[in-house]
Amino acid sequence: MKISIINGPNLNLVGVREPGIYGSRSLNDYLAELVQQYPDVEFTLFQSNHEGAIIDQLQLVGFDHSGIVLNAGAYTHYSIAIADCIRAITAPVVETHISNVMERESFRHVSMIKDACATVIAGYGLDSYRRAVEWLIENAKKK
Ligand code: DQA
Repeated sequence: MKISIINGPNLNLVGVREPGIYGSRSLNDYLAELVQQYPDVEFTLFQSNHEGAIIDQLQLVGFDHSGIVLNAGAYTHYSIAIADCIRAITAPVVETHISNVMERESFRHVSMIKDACATVIAGYGLDSYRRAVEWLIENAKKK
């Protein structure tokens, strides 16, 4: 099983950025540990601050991976291009957030990508990524 974890803008700064919201552990460090917990899964990890690069990566993995964990960061709230791409690919995408976006500013309550995604997991801190991986493993089994 192949799972791609794609992170958008500023997620490379998790650990340093707003630790009261995102925690003080680096995402790289957390993801390196997460992938070790699933020796049977082949992971691809990708992060970019650029919308087009995220779309390129979604297109690259979106037709042969079993699923995608996507934290599109702020693009979640306004990128129609990413939403269109999620609709174009065949792999199920889990919209994932570290923070509980529904309890934050009102502009974060809007997700342009939600309806294109298979499900949304948000608000569990870094554990949101593990939960998203579990969701994909569970749901890929059912197919
Ligand atoms: C985020 C929430 C977004 O609103 C924000 O722009 C981010 C991170 C999260 O993981 O909680 O960059 O996606």
